[in-house]
Order: sequence, then structure tokens, then C-alpha cells
Amino acid sequence: MSAPYVLVLYYSRHGATREMALQMARGIERAGLEARIRTVPAVSSECEAVAPSVPEHGAAYATLDDLTHCAALALGSPTRFGNMAAPLKYFLDGTSSLWLSGALVGKPAAVFTSTASLHGGQETTLLSMMLPLLHHGMLITGLPYSEPALLETRGGGTPYGASHHAGSDGKRPLDEHETELCRALGLRLAQAARRLALALDGEA
Ligand SMILES: Cc1cc2nc3c(=O)[nH]c(=O)nc-3n(C[C@H](O)[C@H](O)[C@H](O)COP(=O)(O)O)c2cc1C
Repeated sequence: MSAPYVLVLYYSRHGATREMALQMARGIERAGLEARIRTVPAVSSECEAVAPSVPEHGAAYATLDDLTHCAALALGSPTRFGNMAAPLKYFLDGTSSLWLSGALVGKPAAVFTSTASLHGGQETTLLSMMLPLLHHGMLITGLPYSEPALLETRGGGTPYGASHHAGSDGKRPLDEHETELCRALGLRLAQAARRLALALDGEA
């Protein structure tokens, strides 16, 4: 059996959500857990698969096994019309076997997103990403206001999860508060996974 890990599963077209995933991983590692970073391929309206089976750069593609055996899940997507991006939804729509077996029931999860505009749907996207995770029986964790950056931020950052305002050209980097909140959410998620594992060990 492999060491426990937190799966950081994201889709990113232009890199902003990927940068958030890396910061989430920093927080997860701060709690002493491995962060397994995985992405999903783009979807196409063509019927045949067009993406190479191994991505040309960046994280490897996620498998159902990555999801089945994770101790916790951090799910990240760019905002697309106030909702998660289709490639991530497509991957989640292929997880029926895990729903049937209850593989994700009771595992902690957290969500993160990046938008072009500051009020362009960060919260709705984060909430929409929680829905399939709740159907899977996962335990959603957000960000508490005891995180000072949540009150100080002039960019992204919500109690529902981490967020980032990339600007209309998509070039605005994660600022200090957005970075801090990504790391805080990663840390919180990994700590929840650890505490849950210890509690279950105690029960056994
Ligand atoms: C089809 C499409 C829809 C989008 N919808 C929104 C939106 O509703 N609100 C918003 O602020 N940005 C929207 N954006 C912009 C992206 O969310 C934003 O550029 C994000 O930072 C991209 O993340 P990435 O660099 O990880 O790909 C949209 C982009 C595309 C391509």
C-alpha cells in the first residue's frame, strides 16, 4: 500500500489554475502529506480522442485509481460562465464506478478556481464544483475567517475555497493573499485527512 497522498486534480488552459494547484500542494506538504498533482485532457467536439495519452508538459493525467486511493481531494478549475470547465466535469462524469462502490465517502475535499473578472463567478464555480463531491459523500472543507488574508484580500479568496483574479488578459499573477489562502486551504485539507485517518485508526 502506498503512503497517503492528497490528490490535487485541476484543469488549466492558460496556467493560472495550475499555479494555484502548485500553491495548494505547498500547503499540503506543510502538513507532511504527499501532494499528487494531476490534470485532465481537454475535451473536443470530435468523436475520436485527439489528445496524446501523455500530456506534452505539466502534470500527468489523473486516473480513477488516483482518485480511489487518495486520502483527500483538492479540485481546481478555471471559471467558465460561472461554472467549472468541461474537461473537469467530463472526468467527474466518468466516476460512476466510484460512486457505486462508495470509494470517496467520508474523504475530505476542497475546491479552487481562477477567473478573468473579480466578480465573474468565483463563488458559483466553487459551489458548482462541490455538488458532485457531495454526491460522492465527500466532506467539504472551506476557509475560515480566522485566516487574516480572507478579510484583507483585494483580489480572490472566499470562505468556499481559494480563488484568484487573473485579470482580463489572464496575466495577473497570484498576489500575496491569494497565495496565502491557497496554501492555507491545502494545509487545512491535509490536516483534516490526517486527523480523520488517526480517528479511524483509533476506532479499529
Ligand atoms: C469559455 C470561457 C468562459 C469563461 N467564463 C468566465 C466567467 O464566467 N467569469 C470570469 O471571470 N472569467 C471567465 N473566463 C476566464 C477564465 O476563467 C480565466 O481566464 C481563468 O483565469 C483561466 O484559468 P487558466 O489560466 O487556469 O486556464 C472564461 C474563459 C473561457 C475560455
